[in-house]
Amino acid sequence: MKIFTVVGARPQFVKAAVLSRAINQTDGVEEVLVHTGQHYDANMSKVFFDEMDIPSPNHNLQINGGTHGRMTGRMLEGLESLLLEEAPDVVLVYGDTNSTLAGALAAAKLHIPIAHVEAGLRSFNKRMPEEVNRILTDHVSRWLFCPTQVAVENLKSEGFVQGKALDVVNVGDVMNDAIQYYSTKLDSKKSHLPNLPEKYILTTLHRQENVQDIERLTALVKGLNQVHNEIAPVVLPLHPSTAKTLANSGLKLDAHLIEPAGYYDMLRLLKGASLVVTDSGGLQKEAYLFNKFCITMRDQTEWVELIENGVNELVGANTELLVNSVSEKLNFELPFSQGLYGDGHAGEKILSHIMSH
Ligand code: UD1
Repeated sequence: MKIFTVVGARPQFVKAAVLSRAINQTDGVEEVLVHTGQHYDANMSKVFFDEMDIPSPNHNLQINGGTHGRMTGRMLEGLESLLLEEAPDVVLVYGDTNSTLAGALAAAKLHIPIAHVEAGLRSFNKRMPEEVNRILTDHVSRWLFCPTQVAVENLKSEGFVQGKALDVVNVGDVMNDAIQYYSTKLDSKKSHLPNLPEKYILTTLHRQENVQDIERLTALVKGLNQVHNEIAPVVLPLHPSTAKTLANSGLKLDAHLIEPAGYYDMLRLLKGASLVVTDSGGLQKEAYLFNKFCITMRDQTEWVELIENGVNELVGANTELLVNSVSEKLNFELPFSQGLYGDGHAGEKILSHIMSH
């Protein structure tokens, strides 16, 4: 069996690492790995392939930047040619990026069955490009691998019915697999982090709805500066697109700004943090998996079980809510119930499911 995997953006490299390892250890299955090029800086891409032992991509389309339509359209064209050339049995896509949608759409048009990992998530906000990408990808997929029961229920309410040519399965979250596996190697890996304060708040900020809306960005920068100057130091690995917008807007973030961190350094940062403040999807789960409270700078989250379990709070782009939430939650004892994201074997389950169907 030949699996054609499409990746392009940072969180997909982490997820693909889990499946690629499972595929490599299994007889009778071969992977063709395609990088769309969406993320291209070494510290947004190459570092993950190196650190997580992901095989080098068989093809790199080197498509990045530009408007969403142009980026997605160029990827669609490039992926279609590769699919015709490689003639795979299955196309495997992850998450909700433009690379995910382009991979799914190219495969659907060629009638190649699609496996979507991280299916069924919804923010119910169609202004987010990720929401559009994930809804469309789910609706053309053959296998919908859900990370949670909430995701399964979302699909049910959209009319997905389990059937002969449609599988909706809760396998758990591959990011949990990644943390469990790579944590065991952490001590032997070199850190590239600069010296950091002993106690700090780990923050990331890159969502389009925050970074490209100057009003929201101004409110968040103001809040983070207040947190950093008055409550506790903020350590922020800065996404290149946020760096560009900040430079162009003249806004100044007072935090400890560091380069985007590789996978192991991110595990270290999570381990050492007192609290996580983010607008990333993945980091919300990673905070939970490291027993840290997470304050989410968004109006909705796909990971509603974190809110229901009292370990995540939405503050939108509201300066006052952000600052108040940080002061309240900094030394908060967490009511953790582990197990929201499966047992750390999502990768094997996904592969054996595809192979047996
Ligand atoms: C993308 C995904 C988002 C995911 C995020 C993870 C979409 C619609 N969004 O958002 O779901 O959470 O990746 O990081 O696919 N840039 C660089 N170097 C890089 C990568 C990006 O300079 O290595 C800059 C470019 O100017 C680019 C901009 O960042 O145009 C935005 O990158 P893009 O891939 O469009 O979106 P992300 O914000 O990274």
